Amino acid sequence: MIKREEETCDRKSPIPKLIYFDGEQGVFFLHARGATYAMQVLEYGHLAHLHWGASLVSQNMSGVFTPHGRAFSPNPIQGNSHFNLDTTPLEYPTYGNSDFRSPALEIFHPATGSRILDLRYVGHRIMLGKPPLENLPATYVDAPSEAETLIVTLRDTSLNVAVELCYTVFSDHPVITRSVRIANESEAPLVLGRVLSCSLDFSSRLANFHFTQLHGAWARETQLITSPLHPGTQSIESRRGASSHAHNPFFALTEMAADEEYGEAYGFSLVYSGNFVALAESDSYRTVRAQMGLNPFDFSWTLESGNFFQTPESVLVFSTEGLGGMSRAFHRFYRRHLISQLWRDRTRPILLNNWEATYFDFDSQKIEKIAKSAAALGVELLVLDDGWFGHRDDATTSLGDWVAHPEKFPNGLADLAERVRKEGIQFGLWFEPEMVSPDSDLYRTHSDWCLHVPTHPRTEGRDQLILDLSRGEVCEEIFQRVSSVLRSVPISYVKWDMNRNMTEIASAGRLPARQQETAHRYMLGLYGLLERFQNEFPEVLFEGCSGGGGRFDPGILRYMPQVWASDNSDAIARLRIQYGASLAYPLSALSAHISIVPNHQVGRMTPLRTRGHVAYTGSFGYELDVGELSAEEQEEVREQIRRYKQLRKLLVRGDLYRLRSPFQGQEAAWMVVAPDQGEALVTHVTILAEANPPLLRLQLRGLDANGIYRLNEEIPPLRGDFLMQIGIAVPEPQGDFISHQWHLQRI
Ligand code: DGJ
Repeated sequence: MIKREEETCDRKSPIPKLIYFDGEQGVFFLHARGATYAMQVLEYGHLAHLHWGASLVSQNMSGVFTPHGRAFSPNPIQGNSHFNLDTTPLEYPTYGNSDFRSPALEIFHPATGSRILDLRYVGHRIMLGKPPLENLPATYVDAPSEAETLIVTLRDTSLNVAVELCYTVFSDHPVITRSVRIANESEAPLVLGRVLSCSLDFSSRLANFHFTQLHGAWARETQLITSPLHPGTQSIESRRGASSHAHNPFFALTEMAADEEYGEAYGFSLVYSGNFVALAESDSYRTVRAQMGLNPFDFSWTLESGNFFQTPESVLVFSTEGLGGMSRAFHRFYRRHLISQLWRDRTRPILLNNWEATYFDFDSQKIEKIAKSAAALGVELLVLDDGWFGHRDDATTSLGDWVAHPEKFPNGLADLAERVRKEGIQFGLWFEPEMVSPDSDLYRTHSDWCLHVPTHPRTEGRDQLILDLSRGEVCEEIFQRVSSVLRSVPISYVKWDMNRNMTEIASAGRLPARQQETAHRYMLGLYGLLERFQNEFPEVLFEGCSGGGGRFDPGILRYMPQVWASDNSDAIARLRIQYGASLAYPLSALSAHISIVPNHQVGRMTPLRTRGHVAYTGSFGYELDVGELSAEEQEEVREQIRRYKQLRKLLVRGDLYRLRSPFQGQEAAWMVVAPDQGEALVTHVTILAEANPPLLRLQLRGLDANGIYRLNEEIPPLRGDFLMQIGIAVPEPQGDFISHQWHLQRI
């Protein structure tokens, strides 16, 4: 029988027991809503994974794991030829003493040269609520009753290294979060080479998995790709110093027959914005190891005696309702437990951003004129994008010098902001705080404040270098410079951009032997800075951006409730980008704007109505000068804005059902249903029209089967069951890129 080290959970609390430890079997049961996760302390103290899937009522886990001798799987326990770690499903595997699969933790012990860690259970604690993560963004609870946390301590007694595996279970979500803390309790330093946030081994029953990922590039983010798992390793990663356009820190494993609506889906997401790795390894016995965390590539971390290392948090979601159910679980969870309390339920202002309207070619009068026409049509926030500072008339100069461009704003920025506000709308501003232009006063004064190595040239990207946020004094200066603008100009919104990836990742503030800590220390510096801005300017809405979706991840969402999902503003390209992003991120987090045609990125002509319908599926706005539109188009814009104001509560708080995938044919369709099922917004877009097409009916989802819904003037009210079983008829498309939208209201 295994005894608890300590039990801090107040069992008199009214909440059901989410975490239960059966000391007789040595089994931990973690009961999330609709899902159970189970682990067992084995005979010799190894922590084995037993189950993650649908809720388990049964508590008898005897025989779920039985040691089984295998040829070429060595036996770490002398005299026991059945036991090996190579085929044991482990919660946090290490390398070197018989598990040949991908390890979660790799260390080097310079004093002895050892790379072996033999982790055995020494105790656990269960507590109400969820502790914050030191210096890292993480999901949170408002009240301790919303979650329980289990911390299991494993220890290598030869090296005196303790590993705390932290699991939080939420009472209202099919979600478990995992993170890890490594403590060096020895007298000598320790070097961490690989330290992942989660690792878990699925039994062979589930080995016929598909791997779903979000892949892309600049202006082509979050493209959905699903492929069968093959023996060996399938992995995604970023080495760019940002989560990246190329791979989002998300993946899903689905059982072979699962689809958008049915079947088991396991979602993995990482609350981190830098280099990451995520993988699924299918072994010789068809078991699958899934892992996620910091990318070990070009990473090492010296852990001095008495110090600890905290990994980022991973978020694990289980659904029996396919990828759709998994996404809704992520959305509800991130809306409730990740996005800041102040912004999570707030509707977002309809904004107009001048970037595509003017690029760098503007001055105070031009912006004021744009603001005037925007305000007249109902826009609520004018965002002044890149080019307002230093002497920046193109991308080659002035990043870091956050003072108003003297020729464009002879009366200063506050004067413009006041004029804009007189029109009855708010004022927002673009910054790229992490960057410096070689042609800037900041760089001329502090040329060693960027990431660089003394031996090689500094590689520029978009004519800029990256400030070294791993250094405290650099973060302090950025904070002072940006906050002095936020204090002197009435600003309600900040677009925080980041337009290149890292090269020469090294810091003048760090010893040569510790340079591989720089990329992660940069992220810690960034998060510290963002937290400071969030605390100091809580009423300012921060929007994340990295050339669009180059850093669209849960780490950023913790501080910035919305992200510019892509620099591609074409409505048809956006169908895929937004569909992909919606796998893990709620619509309220996704910024979507209407831009001019022909579209600046792809040259496509699309109707204004379709551009509106597509941009409605997110935090809505315009990326054009509405004053340049025809009178007829301006009327349409006025109507779009009026309608979005009616619908935005639904769009921020509703549940998303994806009905047709733009990755699978010439249509896209989706709907958002209010939490009480009282209303829904359904959108259908035809991509390329087909001659003599089949008759289209759209079977809706998520409605109240017994409710009667009004759709519009032409269609008589229909029952929810009819709408879900028979569906609504989609008019035959008369041309490409045609869209329809129905606002359903229960009567
Ligand atoms: C990249 C962003 O994604 C654009 O929206 C715009 O802000 C430019 N940067 C400005 O340089």
